[in-house]
Amino acid sequence: MPDTILTAVAWPYANGPRHIGHVSGFGVPSDVFSRYMRMAGHDVLMVSGTDEHGTPISVQADAEGVTARQLADKYNRVIVEDLAGLGLSYDLFTRTTTLNHYWVVQEMFTSLYRNGYIVAQKQQSAISPSTGRTLPDRYIEGTCPHCGYDGARGDQCDNCGNQLDPIDLINPRSKVNGEKPEFVESEQFFLDLPALAEQLGSWLATRSDWRPNVLKYSLNLLKDLRPRAITRDLDWGVPIPLDGWRDQPMKRIYVWFDAVIGYLSASVEWARRSGDADAWKKWWCQDSSAYYFMGKDNIVFHSVIWPSMLFGHNGQGSLGGQPGTFGTLNLPTEVVSSEYLTMSGSKFSTSRSNVIYVGDFLREFGPDALRYFIAVAGPESQDTDFTWDEFVRRNNFELANEWGNLVNRSISMAFKNCGAIPAANFLSDTDRELLGASQRAFDEVGALLRRCRFKQAIGEAMRLVGLANKYISESEPWKLKDEPERRDSILHVALQVVQDANTLLTPFLPHSAQKVHELLGGQGVWAAQPEIRTVSEAGGPDYPVLMGDYENQGAIWASQPLDVGRPLDKPTPLFGKLDESLGETGPSFAPVG
Ligand code: MF3
Ligand code: ZN
Repeated sequence: MPDTILTAVAWPYANGPRHIGHVSGFGVPSDVFSRYMRMAGHDVLMVSGTDEHGTPISVQADAEGVTARQLADKYNRVIVEDLAGLGLSYDLFTRTTTLNHYWVVQEMFTSLYRNGYIVAQKQQSAISPSTGRTLPDRYIEGTCPHCGYDGARGDQCDNCGNQLDPIDLINPRSKVNGEKPEFVESEQFFLDLPALAEQLGSWLATRSDWRPNVLKYSLNLLKDLRPRAITRDLDWGVPIPLDGWRDQPMKRIYVWFDAVIGYLSASVEWARRSGDADAWKKWWCQDSSAYYFMGKDNIVFHSVIWPSMLFGHNGQGSLGGQPGTFGTLNLPTEVVSSEYLTMSGSKFSTSRSNVIYVGDFLREFGPDALRYFIAVAGPESQDTDFTWDEFVRRNNFELANEWGNLVNRSISMAFKNCGAIPAANFLSDTDRELLGASQRAFDEVGALLRRCRFKQAIGEAMRLVGLANKYISESEPWKLKDEPERRDSILHVALQVVQDANTLLTPFLPHSAQKVHELLGGQGVWAAQPEIRTVSEAGGPDYPVLMGDYENQGAIWASQPLDVGRPLDKPTPLFGKLDESLGETGPSFAPVG
């Protein structure tokens, strides 16, 4: 594996606060991965931002009676605050309405155009007969021509996963007012996917280590690749950078085409902000891996559309061509997609108030309780139901009783008996066995994290916690008043394992890891956190971004020997226990039933 790793995290729409289903898909997994990779010595660049164009934004802006830009400003800020609160360690979390992003998108467009992979074509596009306005794809519903599902949308069928155009739908109707759309001819630009299909196919064939569902789904899409419209009749988006098109008020680049380019534009912006404008090339043009994290409804854009755009930009499709503005760009190494987190069996839905917002959750329970739940019980490989009952159980019996208690009792005993970290005088076989398991866990958990097996990884780390609890219970150091040397050895071993387990859990629980580090008498930053910084572009308005100084942290992926003699204090509890009735009632911001 190369030393440099791009962590590319799906861009949340700035059309509302994000719910815990969103962050369980793109957020927590990508952060666990990046934190681990940094600890293991890799040079990680983790980028994302809010996705601020297209109909998801304009429709919500209409609903709130504000402009698209006002709406994007409002939710960009909310989302930045939520993601910071959750401790997601972005090197840059920006937005798609920056001048930099517009520039990178337009350069990408022209590079593809010059190589012949973007072509103009006439298309039937839908308008509402009563208003004369364009109907966005997502606001047309009808029957899927592939599987017969009646709730298919104009852009995609959620039942069979096929990409659609509104004109493909049988019995199309407007979601806004139920009327039958009218189709009129309009000219759009298309990405010539058939000209990129061969290259895409041979590349996908080399991706044997992807999660099988992602690979199978993507290979299946290859069978029917048609040119895909990448512009729309819309006034909110990146203008088309060609003469005769640039100034047309109702022609814009399609939101998905611009959003995926965000990975590149955010890297370029990060480089500029960190003082070396070319630094992004290390992740994009040199030997480097790229891991993309998202929910499953985003797969096609990352496994088919974005790779095709990269091939076209690089001049690597069947029409050939030259590398574009950004040189020869790296393809994704892994497309890591999560399934859905559901609630009472159905998708989170703002309209049916079946939803738990990240901000509410953080204010009430703090970040690590949510991070733990997502890591251990999230929708990594199948849809998973969130229940308050399970949340309370995992928090109380695993996080607090197992991990919190191990930390608390080992440090309390060491503090009470020694006032400092004791030395090990003599190690028994049991001691060595536990220390051995603790050492080995770094390879085991690390191997799982490298393969994005987050559930198994945290399971292994918690297994070590279980072993350590058992060790303490069985060796009963509290009964060894008359054998202080033996007692101290046991406490030393226990504290060593606490420190190791804390290191293993740091990618998952960075906030409490910092605290455990301090409880063990450590100083300075152990696990660095993102900061909200206010930035601007030449002459432009201020906007908030997330950035962080993740190089300067103590955490490294290795067992570090305890600092014997370091003074200890009486520990304060690491995790609070939740009232069990919460399992039945839910909190006031999301009552059950
Ligand atoms: N905004 C999209 C969504 O929430 C995700 C975009 S991911 C991108 O589904 F990177 F491609 F932008
Ligand atoms: Zn279908």
